[in-house]
Amino acid sequence: MSASLATVSYIGATILFILSLGGLSNPETSRRGNLYGMIGMAIAVLATVFGPRVTMGGIPWIIAAMVAGGTVGLYAARTVKMTQMPELVALMHSLVGLAACLVGFASYIDPSSAMHLVDGNMVPLSEAEKAIHEIEIYVGILIGAITFSGSIIAFGKLSGKIGGNPMLLPARHFINLAGLLVVIYFGREFLHATSISDGMLSLVVMTFIALLFGVHMVMAIGGADMPVVVSMLNSYSGWAAAATGFMLSNDLLIVTGALVGSSGAILSYIMCAAMNRHFISVIAGGFGTTSGAAPAAGAEPAGEVVSISSAETAELLNEAKNVIIIPGYGMAVAQAQHTVYEITKHLREKGVNVRFGIHPVAGRMPGHMNVLLAEAKVPYDIVMEMDELNDDFPKTDVAMVIGANDIVNPGAQDDPNSPIAGMPVLEAWKAKTSIVMKRSMASGYAGVDNPLFYKENNRMLFGDAKKMLDEVLVVLKG
Ligand code: TAP
Repeated sequence: MSASLATVSYIGATILFILSLGGLSNPETSRRGNLYGMIGMAIAVLATVFGPRVTMGGIPWIIAAMVAGGTVGLYAARTVKMTQMPELVALMHSLVGLAACLVGFASYIDPSSAMHLVDGNMVPLSEAEKAIHEIEIYVGILIGAITFSGSIIAFGKLSGKIGGNPMLLPARHFINLAGLLVVIYFGREFLHATSISDGMLSLVVMTFIALLFGVHMVMAIGGADMPVVVSMLNSYSGWAAAATGFMLSNDLLIVTGALVGSSGAILSYIMCAAMNRHFISVIAGGFGTTSGAAPAAGAEPAGEVVSISSAETAELLNEAKNVIIIPGYGMAVAQAQHTVYEITKHLREKGVNVRFGIHPVAGRMPGHMNVLLAEAKVPYDIVMEMDELNDDFPKTDVAMVIGANDIVNPGAQDDPNSPIAGMPVLEAWKAKTSIVMKRSMASGYAGVDNPLFYKENNRMLFGDAKKMLDEVLVVLKG
């Protein structure tokens, strides 16, 4: 493939990626957005593999690597459960970081990387060009190493292999500052290195510090703030890819990396707004407490919990005119979305106004609930964002909370000492009756007890969400 055809293909792929991002911003156009992304990526891969920078001898190696990587990716995508998707995404981010590191080291060792193509001939880089190339390598490895180790820890936290407690080292901000100063010092040494082995030493020390920083940064973030970490690492992986693009002088990788990096940064901002947090203070760490554990006995709010049967739940729904359904992580675990849809359909046919309230951090990844509801074919126009219907709860007969917990916790508004204090929540307790479906009294991801369960107008429907909703549906239809 000629260089000009490769360039045209890259421009086409870039346009498709931008259209893809535009499509993904709305559920109704998201399928099209995905398709654009897939076509763009296919064009990008073909134009790179058959482009002017790959020699014929390299093609079998690339194809072998693609077959191996593609097989692992296909297997992972087919076997991973929907609830494990956030962990898989975190692992994928770590691979982008690792790739940036490996490309960085390879670029530094490779003697041809100190040359560039001018009018078909390889000529050495000028002093200034060489310095710029070395800065690209240094910064690329730095971002890559932070992304790699941070994503591995995020994977551990999301999969429950590492506890959600923030690890708060004494003087942690000073440790970070000292790390930064050492990185800057070795960056200077790297640029002035007179031999590859000298430069290598600086690179290895900086990589080691960057890896430690990635671990420290994510370990210091509490369970409740993990959504910001997930989107932040998404952004980092984009910048790592862009840095790789600079090292390889690949324009498409630079643009694509910048698109992922900036959209991830916007997502992080949205997540911070959704949780009422300042971005910098989340990165600095220390929010959130324990995760997933049963609440400590002394911390339990006073009051009684009133449980309800599935038949009584069906009765309440039958009598309701306005219903708001609030799905959470438990709906994904139970895979209850299809039964939720059946119930919704049944109630809507009877003239009940059923709407869904989606909290921005519900579940374990951005848009988690929207994906599940779309899969179950719930119409998009009744799926609302938190802010769109929070004022409507007082006019609502039944607020049905399905496997959600933190996102309906009134303690976020009432208890200034709560780890989720200040996080906006769906005000389910303001409905005439709220029904919470979950299996036990265990807390949610943030590890805080939920006073909603003890409210007078609240009922608890204990059990697996899918099983209980199946029973509710049978009674509704019967
Ligand atoms: P959570 O607060 O985690 O609560 C989920 C509830 O579902 C649990 O209390 C659990 O109670 C219940 N549950 C689990 N399996 C169930 C099943 N089979 N049937 C019925 N219920 C089941 O979830 P949420 O309200 O969606 O809030 C999300 C939380 O995750 C927030 O704290 C958020 O910060 C955090 N987080 C979000 C993200 C993103 S990007 N969205 C990423 C990381 C962390 P039982 O065990 O008693 O059943």
